[in-house]
Amino acid sequence: MLEKRTLGKTNIKVSPIGIGVMMWMGGRGLIGRIAPDVSDVVKNDIIKESFAGGINFFDTAEFYGFGRSETNLANALKANNVEDKDVVIGTKWAPVLRRARNMRRTINNRINYLGGYAIDLYMIHQPISFSSIKTEMKELARLLENKKIRSVGISNYNAKQMRTAHEELEKLGIPLAANQVHYSLVRRNIETDCILDTAKELGVTITAYTPLAGGLLTGKLHNNPEALKNKSSMYRMVAKRNLEESIPLVETLTEIAKTHDVLPGQVALNWLVNYHGDTVITIPGATKAYQAKEAAGAMTFELSKAELDEIADISERFL
Ligand SMILES: NC(=O)c1ccc[n+]([C@@H]2O[C@H](COP(=O)([O-])OP(=O)(O)OC[C@H]3O[C@@H](n4cnc5c(N)ncnc54)[C@H](OP(=O)(O)O)[C@@H]3O)[C@@H](O)[C@H]2O)c1
Repeated sequence: MLEKRTLGKTNIKVSPIGIGVMMWMGGRGLIGRIAPDVSDVVKNDIIKESFAGGINFFDTAEFYGFGRSETNLANALKANNVEDKDVVIGTKWAPVLRRARNMRRTINNRINYLGGYAIDLYMIHQPISFSSIKTEMKELARLLENKKIRSVGISNYNAKQMRTAHEELEKLGIPLAANQVHYSLVRRNIETDCILDTAKELGVTITAYTPLAGGLLTGKLHNNPEALKNKSSMYRMVAKRNLEESIPLVETLTEIAKTHDVLPGQVALNWLVNYHGDTVITIPGATKAYQAKEAAGAMTFELSKAELDEIADISERFL
């Protein structure tokens, strides 16, 4: 079983594989097309399976339904009698068309939506805002000082922006805990555009989002391309592009999975959190209980160095 890891240079310990609850903003109408409804029973079961399998880390955001995903997460944790001390929650401020001072005006909304669970990690969702990164970091430091949040993170920042955030926080004696970025075996650009190297150098955790390429790396679409029909046009466009190109990769994941008596998607997650030492953790999305169980199961076996390298080699085209 993989051990818990420290978020950056903080004292917060997380399971290397957490669960992303972006889809828990779902429902009807326009949003329902992107994020279908996940019933309360299923959400509760996802939390149950997560904790049963050693997962203690959950990712949400203001932008995921402006409180819906956060509230749904809090309710499902409560339904499972999870205490605040046993869970690590990351949420994010939506910076577009806003200034940093908006954080102090909206932080109590986040706290209320999370219904008594602390914000263990507060991230700037993306580096697009009316304020500079430096001003945003100062504002986050203020929230930390006022005990509204427990640690500071960023998301979708490139290497230079991450360094700026780190430097500004360092002046204030605060570690930059994590940079949440798109990273999977079919999207490996952080390995070549300095994001990963910079994170390693600065001691910042990389949180990989969309680690299963929306389910593609489980092999389910290769086995049943018809399933694509039920997906949004955006999803279909990206998946179709990767479907053909990822056949050799998914075949390799499937072969390696067989030798460990696990599933290809679990091998993909295990690779992600092990290939670069302990710098990378990940947050696969779950809309069904079995998905949380499988995500947790991805922490229960060890890939050999030869297997890790074989997977890296076969997915080289995605670098
Ligand atoms: N910071 C950012 O800008 C950003 C952007 C995107 C996402 N995120 C975060 O990252 C999390 C995960 O990202 P994501 O949902 O885009 O991508 P993902 O984790 O690659 O894909 C999740 C989807 O894959 C399918 N899936 C998951 N486990 C499976 C399994 N064991 N077997 C078969 N299918 C499985 C499910 O599809 P079905 O629902 O169809 O079953 C699920 O909704 C989000 O919840 C969010 O917290 C952050």
